[in-house]
Amino acid sequence: MSAIFIAVEGLDGSGGTTQTRLLAEWFRARGHNEVATTSEPSTGPVGRFIRTVLDPNHEASVVGDSVLPFLFAGDRRDHLDREVIPSLQRGAAVITDRYYHSSLAYQSLAIGLPAVAALNERFRPPDVTIFLDLEPEESLARILARGATLERFEALDRLRAIYEAYEAVLVHCRARGEHIVRIDARGTIEEVHKRVLAAVEATMESMA
Ligand SMILES: Nc1ncnc2c1ncn2[C@@H]1O[C@H](COP(=O)(O)OP(=O)(O)OP(=O)(O)O)[C@@H](O)[C@H]1O
Ligand SMILES: [Mg+2]
Repeated sequence: MSAIFIAVEGLDGSGGTTQTRLLAEWFRARGHNEVATTSEPSTGPVGRFIRTVLDPNHEASVVGDSVLPFLFAGDRRDHLDREVIPSLQRGAAVITDRYYHSSLAYQSLAIGLPAVAALNERFRPPDVTIFLDLEPEESLARILARGATLERFEALDRLRAIYEAYEAVLVHCRARGEHIVRIDARGTIEEVHKRVLAAVEATMESMA
C-alpha cells in the first residue's frame, strides 16, 4: 500500500485528536503496512519549547505572539525531516493532528496571513487535509464539557476570530492547488468518523 499524508485541522474542541485516532485505527484494521499518527507542536525540541510557551502558566510576555510563527515553522521543518518524511518514504500512512493550516489560521491573527504564509510556503502539502467544521460556540461547549482549563487560544472571541481566519486559509490553500475537504463536525464521533473516511477513501482512489 502506498504512502499517504493526511492533515486533520479545525478549531480547538472540533474533534481533531479524536478523529485522528479513529482514522489511524481504520488504517491499521485494513492492514496498511505502517500507520503513524503525529501532531503539532511536535515532540521534538522546538515543539517541546512551544508547548512550554503555550502553557497558560507561562509568562506571556517572554515569547510574544509575533515570535510564535517562527517557532512553529522551525518545529514544522524538524517534524517533517525527523518524522513525517522518513515515514512517508517507508510507505506509511501519516496522519498529523494539525499542520501548517493551524499556523496560517492562529498566527495570522498576530502577523497577518501573507507573512505567516511566506514562512510556510515550502512545506510539503498533505495529500488531503480534513477540515473539521464546527461553530465556535459548539467547539467551546465540547472544550468545557471535557472539563479542561482554557489555554490562551480558547476563549469564545478568540475561537470566533480563528474560525474566520480558517476561512481565509482554506481559500488561500485551495488557490495553491491543495486538496482540502470540509467535514461537518457536528453529530456523534462515529458520524463524523464516517464522513472523514468517505473523504479519505475518495482521496486514495484518486491517488491509485
Ligand atoms: N462528535 C463529537 N461529539 C461530541 N463530543 C465530541 C465529538 N468529538 C470529540 N468530542 C469530545 O470533544 C472534546 C474535544 O475533542 P478533541 O480533543 O478530539 O478535539 P480537538 O479538536 O483535538 O481539541 P484540541 O484542539 O483542544 O486538542 C473531547 O472531550 C472529545 O471527547
Ligand atoms: Mg487536539
